[in-house]
Amino acid sequence: MRVAILRASVHHGCMRAVVYERYGSPDELELREVPRPDPGADDVVVEVVAASVNLSDWEGLRGDPAYARMAGPVRPSAGRRILGTDVAGRVAAVGANVTDFTVGDEVFGDIMPRYGTFAEYVAAPAASVVRIPRGLTFAQAAALPQAAAIATYAVSLARPGDRLLFNGAGGGSGSLAVQLAVAKGVHVTAVDNAGKLDFLRRLGADEVIDYRRDDFTRRGPFDVIVDVVARRSIFAYRRALAPGGRCVVVGGTTRAVLRMLTVGALLGVVSGTRLGVLIVHQVPAAFLPVAEQVARGELAIPIDGRYSLDAVPEALARHGRGEALGKVVVAVRDDPRGGPPLEPDRR
Ligand SMILES: NC(=O)c1ccc[n+]([C@@H]2O[C@H](COP(=O)([O-])OP(=O)(O)OC[C@H]3O[C@@H](n4cnc5c(N)ncnc54)[C@H](OP(=O)(O)O)[C@@H]3O)[C@@H](O)[C@H]2O)c1
Repeated sequence: MRVAILRASVHHGCMRAVVYERYGSPDELELREVPRPDPGADDVVVEVVAASVNLSDWEGLRGDPAYARMAGPVRPSAGRRILGTDVAGRVAAVGANVTDFTVGDEVFGDIMPRYGTFAEYVAAPAASVVRIPRGLTFAQAAALPQAAAIATYAVSLARPGDRLLFNGAGGGSGSLAVQLAVAKGVHVTAVDNAGKLDFLRRLGADEVIDYRRDDFTRRGPFDVIVDVVARRSIFAYRRALAPGGRCVVVGGTTRAVLRMLTVGALLGVVSGTRLGVLIVHQVPAAFLPVAEQVARGELAIPIDGRYSLDAVPEALARHGRGEALGKVVVAVRDDPRGGPPLEPDRR
């Protein structure tokens, strides 16, 4: 693992960040000193306290599926050399047009399509962040935005009493979606690897399926299928759907996503079957209500562990190996909102 551990930034205008220049394994990631970002007119610069790992970071590192290379077919593009989109921190500077925030505000959000939160500072569109609710630690706040937005969109498709199947349920979005759906009175079947099934039962899933042993498309029928790691054919999804049911993919192989956009849409026109790609807007309106529920103690945000900035390769590797139960957090600075210690901590 190629991690050059550098001293804390001493030069004004510099910061530490985890940078990669080639698609590949976590060995490509290097902790370096780079220029600190300045805010664009509509940005805030966030002094990062915590960030979190999403599947999109793993996909961006590997350059796989192919859609992860859209901005840089051969190498990661200049704007993508620091991964990370979820962030929680303090506003350190505001752009000329920004009136909603002042320096020192504690904010969180998902800055996608930008990247760069695995760093001491990041420039974020002001519209992508919002103040952190009282009662959340920075680590919890950083774990929430993308996962909560996807979970909110996914669960909005199901009505009380519906049978919902969530494929990839043991990850960030799934572990929230399972809880939200159960609370809504939806019957939840959660699919993931065997190591995550007890965890999913504890979150309230009514039924669990080990994807390495069982084919969920031969179970059902389900009123709603949500797949965050789609790989199956349209016809496989279709046979698992109840009449009038709906299937959406959120992420997965390029092939599976393209099939949904083309054949899935066509089938909808000719047969009324509703198959498609779920487009999620990771904006504060989509994730703040879930964050408020977590702050009130109505919902848990499972955090697998915290890793310091120099341990980001290890954090991504853990996520990539499929071992994380819930969210992997990158703790960039001490968390002034404290909260109970998270175990196991790394460095
Ligand atoms: N559509 C949109 O607008 C939008 C917006 C943002 C993000 N996204 C996409 O949404 C997805 C986000 O998911 P997330 O953050 O919840 O991911 P995550 O935390 O990585 O969770 C994915 C889960 O799926 C499991 N898994 C892997 N392969 C599987 C398989 N073949 N069958 C069943 N489960 C499998 C993983 O476990 P193991 O690997 O351990 O087995 C993991 O527990 C990403 O693909 C991202 O690119 C889409």
